[in-house]
Amino acid sequence: MSEKTIALVTGANKGIGYEIAAGLGALGWAVGVGARSAERRETAVEKLRAAGVDAFGVPLDVTDDASVTAAAALLEERGLDVLVNNAAITGGVPQEPTVVDPAVVRTVIDTNVLGVIRVTNAMLPLLRRSSAPRIVNMSSSVGSLTLQSANTGATGPISAAYAPSKTFLNAVTVQYAKELADTDILINLGCPGYVATDLNHFSGYRTPTQGAAIALHLATLPADGPTGGFFDDAGPVAW
Ligand SMILES: NC(=O)c1ccc[n+]([C@@H]2O[C@H](COP(=O)([O-])OP(=O)(O)OC[C@H]3O[C@@H](n4cnc5c(N)ncnc54)[C@H](OP(=O)(O)O)[C@@H]3O)[C@@H](O)[C@H]2O)c1
Repeated sequence: MSEKTIALVTGANKGIGYEIAAGLGALGWAVGVGARSAERRETAVEKLRAAGVDAFGVPLDVTDDASVTAAAALLEERGLDVLVNNAAITGGVPQEPTVVDPAVVRTVIDTNVLGVIRVTNAMLPLLRRSSAPRIVNMSSSVGSLTLQSANTGATGPISAAYAPSKTFLNAVTVQYAKELADTDILINLGCPGYVATDLNHFSGYRTPTQGAAIALHLATLPADGPTGGFFDDAGPVAW
């Protein structure tokens, strides 16, 4: 096991995930760049290394059991302290509940929720060996039922797939926190705000670096930090 803190970021080849990897790397950590495309992964690893980050590639499709198992095996010797479940998809349009294709909902849940469970459970044996294990699940305020019900207009388009997938992820994360309450593992949800990335065709008004900040905060929580919470840069987000 390395003395150095080791992190794995899923979907780290672009967008917020890339900036989370860059930010954790700037702390002097070794960062596994989880990505499903070999080409995109290697390009990101090279770019991070050129910026001085101790980055290494981790082939990882979060929807594929064999890929996730292989990723855990790849990390076995190195160890793992921090897991950032960042990879997600929106599922495209239309997503209005009255017209959505159930297959789209299934695909989005498979990536955004089951993918997180798949990766987390594969990595848990490694995290349990760490002295400061942290799990960060990237969620979104669009998954907040309180904010959706308040109808402020700040909760994105009507969606039967993406927004509910984040509500589901929030609920699952709370259950992880309850089960892991008597361990050193802190598991929390982060909302990056509305960030200009491929996910929203670059319509967001925040930069990926700004979006990464909450993940960096939750990845570096002290031992007495919160667990089972949902946070953005301003503090707790309503469920
Ligand atoms: N952007 C926003 O305004 C915003 C707001 C709230 C929450 N978020 C959340 O922040 C996180 C990052 O979003 P982003 O905006 O940076 O999105 P993005 O630019 O579209 O990046 C998503 C990443 O996830 C990867 N990915 C998707 N499916 C995958 C799979 N099956 N296996 C492995 N990797 C997979 C993508 O890889 P490929 O390149 O191979 O597709 C990409 O690296 C997501 O959880 C998102 O829901 C974003």
